[in-house]
Amino acid sequence: SVNVSPTGSQPTSTYESAFLKACRREPVPHTPVWFMRQAGRSLPEYRKVREGIGMLDSCMLPELVTEITLQPVRRHQVDAAIYFSDIVVPLKAIGVDLDIKPGVGPVVERPVRTRADLDRLRDLTPEDVPYVTEAIGMLTRELGSTPLIGFAGAPFTLASYLVEGGPSRTYENAKAMMYGDPELWANLLDRLADITAAFLKVQIEAGASAVQLFDSWAGALAPADYRRSVLPASAKVFDAVASYEVPRIHFGVGTGELLGLMGEAGADVVGVDWRVPLDEAARRVGPGKALQGNLDPTVLFAGREAVETKAQEVLDSAAGLEGHVFNLGHGVMPSTDPDALTRLVEYVHTATAR
Ligand code: CP3
Repeated sequence: SVNVSPTGSQPTSTYESAFLKACRREPVPHTPVWFMRQAGRSLPEYRKVREGIGMLDSCMLPELVTEITLQPVRRHQVDAAIYFSDIVVPLKAIGVDLDIKPGVGPVVERPVRTRADLDRLRDLTPEDVPYVTEAIGMLTRELGSTPLIGFAGAPFTLASYLVEGGPSRTYENAKAMMYGDPELWANLLDRLADITAAFLKVQIEAGASAVQLFDSWAGALAPADYRRSVLPASAKVFDAVASYEVPRIHFGVGTGELLGLMGEAGADVVGVDWRVPLDEAARRVGPGKALQGNLDPTVLFAGREAVETKAQEVLDSAAGLEGHVFNLGHGVMPSTDPDALTRLVEYVHTATAR
């Protein structure tokens, strides 16, 4: 049929969107823009619909997920939607006793520290997350040609919450397992890779046009440790979804020294935080991959002129890239003025119109 892409079920108009073209390193009509954490607390309409509903509960309500996912697309005219969920949703779905505490983050009742703890982490099946399939079906109908990005947490970042029992600055328990019991660590990351791969497959089969693997906290690792103890599990996730031929994005914070390895793990697009300029990031990643990033999210507090100056610096450093998706270097901060985001999208679209 005319309306079907070379790779599957997305409409041609989605396949030909600026976002997916940039991910494939094809010429684009303008540089596409979306923001990590674009759906969330910076939006008054988000706070309104979330009133009285816990974060994890809200992730299991397809109508609410659909509304929250669409809010930033309507308001900012971003080039892609990101599925509203959280990296710990698949863990909750297989029965891990965890919650997301406001202002804190994911907290795990019984941290994973032993072989017996690991044995309680079972595989994820599509039946564990029916609300994901339902919400993505609703979303792809509503989004028209705007692509939907599915996502999951990478094995290391998920392990950091599971082993620590909550957010950490130092990851001492997770790293103690990695250095002190490499076999248990490898088995844990391998189990998490299977869970993550299964969760991404559910999202792709329901209609997600791209996926992002968030290894937010991988920047805590030295390259040799990342290569030995983390990369194999992340590579397993990317391999598991390779045959779908949807772009695979790989992102972490403070990963300047890991950018090459994060590309090697199997990404088509490497996400870059604000610490490394994109031209230098391209040298570190090497040819054949697009880049995503990398405006410092705090720039949005500095006023219109500063935002435009700094956004232009990002665009200038991306000028020689084959594929560039404009984004922040990390998520939108909750106190960001939403109008500053709307103006930034407009600026990038206008400044790069070809
Ligand atoms: O990007 C989007 O718009 C989609 C939504 C999204 C959420 N979490 C919603 C959320 C995404 C992509 C995530 C991923 C996520 N969750 C990551 C990786 C991205 C990153 O920021 O590095 C991580 C590390 C988590 C774990 C997590 N969940 C944290 C650290 C927090 C914040 C805790 C706090 O309150 O400060 C959460 C909660 C969370 N996830 C919120 C949202 C909108 C806030 C909860 C709320 O609104 O009540």
